[in-house]
Amino acid sequence: MFAERRKRLCSNLVEGTVVILVGSGNMVRSNDTEFPFRQDSDLHYLTGFDHPNAVAILNVGRSPNFTLFVEPKNQEMETWTGYRPGVEGAIESFGADQAFPIEELQKRLPEILSEATSVYHVLGKHREVDDQMVSILNDMRIRSRSAKTPAAQIVDPRSVIHEMRVVKDPTELELMRAAASITKEAHRYAASLSFDGTKEYEIEAALSYVFRKRGASGPAYTSIVGSGSNATTLHYVRNEDVLKDSELVLIDAGCEYQGYASDVTRTYPIGGHFDGARRAVYSAVLEAQAASIEASHPGATLQEVHDASVQHLSMCMIDLGLLSGSLDEVIEQNSYRRFYMHNTSHWLGLDVHDAGNYSIDGKPRKLLPGMVYTVEPGLYIRSDDEEVPQEFRGIGVRIEDDIHITESGIEILTADIPKEPSEVEEWVLTR
Ligand code: GLY
Ligand code: MN
Ligand code: MN
Repeated sequence: MFAERRKRLCSNLVEGTVVILVGSGNMVRSNDTEFPFRQDSDLHYLTGFDHPNAVAILNVGRSPNFTLFVEPKNQEMETWTGYRPGVEGAIESFGADQAFPIEELQKRLPEILSEATSVYHVLGKHREVDDQMVSILNDMRIRSRSAKTPAAQIVDPRSVIHEMRVVKDPTELELMRAAASITKEAHRYAASLSFDGTKEYEIEAALSYVFRKRGASGPAYTSIVGSGSNATTLHYVRNEDVLKDSELVLIDAGCEYQGYASDVTRTYPIGGHFDGARRAVYSAVLEAQAASIEASHPGATLQEVHDASVQHLSMCMIDLGLLSGSLDEVIEQNSYRRFYMHNTSHWLGLDVHDAGNYSIDGKPRKLLPGMVYTVEPGLYIRSDDEEVPQEFRGIGVRIEDDIHITESGIEILTADIPKEPSEVEEWVLTR
């Protein structure tokens, strides 16, 4: 599978191109402790090599085609930081044609680049590698009369790799279905805790517990558990308040499973019953989401998916007395943005906000089978907004599902996480 992806990438590049992919290192969290390791998504996509401080090199149309530079086996270091596949494992388990200790990168790079016609490398992310590469190419230029011609261009490989990543292959879709299924279970547990007195961080912990219990690496992004007016802060991650009866709790949480993210928001009624104003706002968002899902099909665009939510939410804002004016005015003057200020969709995959362009030649791109994205309209009414009826102040609702475009329509990866008000109420009430 990884070999097939490398082959596909190489088939898009001309012979003599050298692609350099630098993996993630360990990031210091504090003093001598580190954040959990997370591989660079592009390197993972093309190699599956999930250990720190690796560099992958592809030499298009040449042999050896696939070289890995990795941390070598070292019994003493492995006692402290754990198993390393080492040079041997890089070849045996990850299919490299050749592998070397990462310390040899500097020494071996000149040889690798000596025949390159162009180099694909992300500049600005790993200064050390940038400097090595630039100095090698400069040296070659200085000596160009007596030796080989240096590569004529350095190209960002992300344009090509991300174009591949935006259309998921069957293996990726299976992993994303598994991620969605784990996320469902986590939301189910979270819903059952949505009653007066629960702390937001207890729900965050419950979500993480289910993620890990079911074999996910953890949350794909910091879980948002915002009760009451905390739900109107889009990236509320402090999760430190106490749930109060009759308010809502917005839970935006999805796991990362074998590198793949799910991204799901549900808004639960604390205590198990949607009351008047909250029910009205919830229904507005649910209907907007239905309109955006209705607009999702092969050949449509994410702009159309977004417009469907904007249209419906704007109408509801007028109906609920949040805004005055005609629907056309509210949309043309962007006044709906006071209560709906983010986009409806983003690509989803290895990254929660996944790689891939949203437009081509300045126009929104058409949705193709294999693309996966979220549909996540919301309505957020600040608690200090004195221009809206009192009953709506401090209400925040978002509903988010993950959509896969198929040949004939869509598959909603997160379809079995309830969102109809009566089903949501039941989820909260059945502990
Ligand atoms: N949880 C991040 C997002 O919904 O985009
Ligand atoms: Mn989300
Ligand atoms: Mn999202």
